[in-house]
Amino acid sequence: MKPDSVSIQKRYDRIAPYFEIMEAVMEGLFFKRWRKRLWDKVDQDSRHILEIGVGTGKNFEYYPANARITAIDFSPQMLKQAVIKRDRKQVVVELEVMDVQSLYFADNSFDTVIASFVFCSVPMPLKGLKELYRVCKPGGQVVLLEHVLSSKPVMAWIMNLVNPLVVGLVGANINRNTVKNVQSCAFEWVRVDERSSDMIKLIEARK
Ligand SMILES: C[S@@+](CC[C@H](N)C(=O)[O-])C[C@H]1O[C@@H](n2cnc3c(N)ncnc32)[C@H](O)[C@@H]1O
Repeated sequence: MKPDSVSIQKRYDRIAPYFEIMEAVMEGLFFKRWRKRLWDKVDQDSRHILEIGVGTGKNFEYYPANARITAIDFSPQMLKQAVIKRDRKQVVVELEVMDVQSLYFADNSFDTVIASFVFCSVPMPLKGLKELYRVCKPGGQVVLLEHVLSSKPVMAWIMNLVNPLVVGLVGANINRNTVKNVQSCAFEWVRVDERSSDMIKLIEARK
């Protein structure tokens, strides 16, 4: 793992026990609604789904019952929280420590690859997104829920200014242009859900 990746991974290791408390207000006010919309996009006939950056397992309650789910995260401590939740809630999911920038999976392995609020933290986001493309089956889908840099100049200026502070504290960049990054991969098409806001984007891409 590159030094940059190690430091981000360590930040998530450090905040893992408090992660859900830290996000509780935003989760209740905004994220929960968006998670439902994210998982509603998953193809009904998806047989094998890969969740990237599973974190503490906040998406467990949305997993479709009829699909096999594999989920990865590069922070062992975040994954430890997910394991506790999986066992407590009896969720059927295979959890593995892995970096999205170099996935161990073979090409064309998954019907759906999904992630929520992950590509803000991935040190080399394009490398990670290319890995999503690689492991997705032809005709399969990649579905992402991401916060991005505002399109409003003043807000974008503020976000760029405070970004180093946020990265230092929690490991997440608040100034990523993830839609553009997905569009630069080789997907057949990329769509941004019309309910997306200026800073929260629900993105679907088809391989
Ligand atoms: C903001 S949290 C979101 C967690 C979860 N997806 C959610 O919606 O609550 C970002 C997660 O992505 C993981 N992550 C960041 N970079 C990663 C990478 N390169 N490979 C795998 N996981 C990564 C972090 O460890 C963390 O658990």
